[in-house]
Amino acid sequence: MEKKPSESIASSPATAPQPFDLIVPCAFGLEAIVKRELKGLGIEATISDSGRVSFRGTPEMVCQANLWLRTADRILIRVAEFPAADFDALFETTRQINWGKLLPADAAFPVTGRSIKSTLTSVPACQRSVKRAIVDAMMRDHRTSELPETGPLYKVDVAIVKDVATLTIDTTGRSLHRRGYRTHISSAPLKETLASAMVLLSYWRSGRPLIDPFCGSGTIPIEAARIGRNLAPGLEREFACQAWPNFSAELWSDTRSTAANQSLPPLEEKLLGSDIDGRVLTAARDNAIRAGVQDDIHFQAMPVHEISSSKRFGCVITNPPYGQRIGSGHSSRFDAADHGDPDSEGPEDWELDELYESLPQIFEKLPTWSKYILTAYSNLERAMGRSANRRRKLYNGRIECTYYQYQGPKPYASDRPATEKSPAPAQPITREPTTSEPSVRETNTSKHAAPEPAKPKPKSPWPKSPPNS
Ligand SMILES: C[S@@+](CC[C@H](N)C(=O)[O-])C[C@H]1O[C@@H](n2cnc3c(N)ncnc32)[C@H](O)[C@@H]1O
Repeated sequence: MEKKPSESIASSPATAPQPFDLIVPCAFGLEAIVKRELKGLGIEATISDSGRVSFRGTPEMVCQANLWLRTADRILIRVAEFPAADFDALFETTRQINWGKLLPADAAFPVTGRSIKSTLTSVPACQRSVKRAIVDAMMRDHRTSELPETGPLYKVDVAIVKDVATLTIDTTGRSLHRRGYRTHISSAPLKETLASAMVLLSYWRSGRPLIDPFCGSGTIPIEAARIGRNLAPGLEREFACQAWPNFSAELWSDTRSTAANQSLPPLEEKLLGSDIDGRVLTAARDNAIRAGVQDDIHFQAMPVHEISSSKRFGCVITNPPYGQRIGSGHSSRFDAADHGDPDSEGPEDWELDELYESLPQIFEKLPTWSKYILTAYSNLERAMGRSANRRRKLYNGRIECTYYQYQGPKPYASDRPATEKSPAPAQPITREPTTSEPSVRETNTSKHAAPEPAKPKPKSPWPKSPPNS
């Protein structure tokens, strides 16, 4: 949708409480989860494009979204959207905007840019043009000839797609996946946003057992523990708009203290993170301490074939190693971030095949558990010996992966572990409603669902479909 600058500005002055026009970028495949996370915060949003969700919101909603969204990358204010097939249009339309109402006179406003399928191909030239136009407008609006740029940071971005320019200001600062707890990482860390999405897409909830047998730096169990304890993902970090005059210190401290008061006590059922490499577990433990969930997770050095549990109806949520060596038969792409240089490190194809082919035997020890596996290894279902109940295309960075969801049998009321008999703890604010809507990219292959056990079935405590798919 194309928006004239005057409309956008009229509807989003930064000094008045009128709502902003907001864009929430996220990884491809996570749009529906972001939308439902927003719904959990009482915010109606729409999926505007691949990797983008939009909503209109007040500064308070911007604080809430920054603080609580687990699966989004950032929150941007859309300033204007207009045709810009040449530099005159880009400069003049940008200059017409009342930037003085959006930015204080001492604002620092670096301009970044992108150009896709557009006449204006030189991104640096577009950035310079927008910067000059904003400088002109700021001098006009603030009636000054000097702009020291010593004040709060307002990162402006100009994205020109098919000759339409969108100007945005970033409210977030460093990306939302950077929660602030992870300074030690394994060689193949998942983004915290993706790990959270894996948990939110699963049947797991606080009180149920969870194992990540390839836990690396512990991102999945740490994100699960924070979800289970309703710890806002942004509690330990700062945001760009905290320094903005129209986002008062009071607004931020109120939002933060409300969020802190909503946190729940340590989990009744400890989560397990294990990995064959004891060194990464040192990092995982340190990360869990910084994330405030060290009492919720037990980390253990252990090869995957040793996992077992006497607990029932738990969830394995995991991201095993995957790779593709150049010239290999696998169609999955090699994850350079996963194993460093694809030519020198990482498992050989035969090792990967062996590892994946051993999974069914390992999982046989957990017959009542659901298994959720994110991988780019293309032969997963063949190795597992059956199709997944659901699969969803997700991106780990730029690597296309599939999230395979093998749902275990539904527990009977009598089979529920003690913790499930007590009333379920309050769902985290960002948990999704238990009714699911069809997701954009998810394939349901439920004809392959795990067979129901034969005894008569009282009312199941499980949701009819994955709560967050
Ligand atoms: C893709 S990484 C997991 C990254 C993790 N999700 C994170 O965010 O840090 C895969 C992990 O599997 C571990 N691994 C490889 N083979 C294993 C085996 N046979 N048993 C258990 N862990 C293994 C590696 O040490 C590595 O940490």
